[in-house]
Amino acid sequence: MSAIRVRFEPAGLEVDAQPGEAIMDITDANPAADVPYSCRAATCGTCRVEVLEGGEALSTADEFELEVLDIFGDTPDKVRLCCQAKLLGGEATKVTPKVCED
Ligand code: FES
Repeated sequence: MSAIRVRFEPAGLEVDAQPGEAIMDITDANPAADVPYSCRAATCGTCRVEVLEGGEALSTADEFELEVLDIFGDTPDKVRLCCQAKLLGGEATKVTPKVCED
């Protein structure tokens, strides 16, 4: 499978990752991605990111992620939790998550 380029905003860090990798694992290996975490378990919403590009390359949000997104008034077509989303691959070759500011 071909690599997917992930660009973290606003840090501007770009890394190549493989389908199947969790976004949280990518950010743990690349602290310069500068994504904040707290619970790491779909509870707090600290790791919310707006997906600017390539959302179709991410795993589907489960009920726990959807609950947290709903609390913040977000929907999974625009915002995801970095502690939950994984790269699936497919047609998309680039994913751009941007850390939510609120
Ligand atoms: S770190 Fe708490 S929801 Fe992701």
